[in-house]
Amino acid sequence: VSAAIGLADALTNEHQEIDAQIAAFAHALSEDRVVDVGALSRTFVALRRHIYLEEELLFPPIRRAGLLMPILVMNKEHGEIWRLMDAVEDRLRSPAMDADALRSLCRELMARLDQHNAKEEPIVYPHTAIDLTTAEAAGVAEFLDAGRMPADWICEHGR
Ligand SMILES: [Fe+2]
Ligand SMILES: [Fe+2]
Repeated sequence: VSAAIGLADALTNEHQEIDAQIAAFAHALSEDRVVDVGALSRTFVALRRHIYLEEELLFPPIRRAGLLMPILVMNKEHGEIWRLMDAVEDRLRSPAMDADALRSLCRELMARLDQHNAKEEPIVYPHTAIDLTTAEAAGVAEFLDAGRMPADWICEHGR
């Protein structure tokens, strides 16, 4: 992440990429086209990693600086998003894949993400430029570029 773009913009870009990929999957489903399950699981890897970055690296300094309630709400919503990803993956693994059920789960996931990001971007992300030390910001930027979530990590409210 270059300093010119800034963390908030880089994180907002991630939201948009993830949203677009889930929407593309749901769209293919609704047209009865062959769906790219591999692409969706890569998207979920990216979304879980995004949530990891927020809960483990980004939010703690922002919470310490005093933004308690919004962070609490964000983490609760991560739990709901996480469970919806699990539900989609369960559906994909089941032998009789029910396209209608899968589509409605994807729609619910997209709606939750929409509501979540609509708060996170204006309320929490501006704090990335204020509440993080230089070292903390560098850690987040480094993770955004090349970091990997520990394989067994689950978000706070998904546990
Ligand atoms: Fe989030
Ligand atoms: Fe986010």
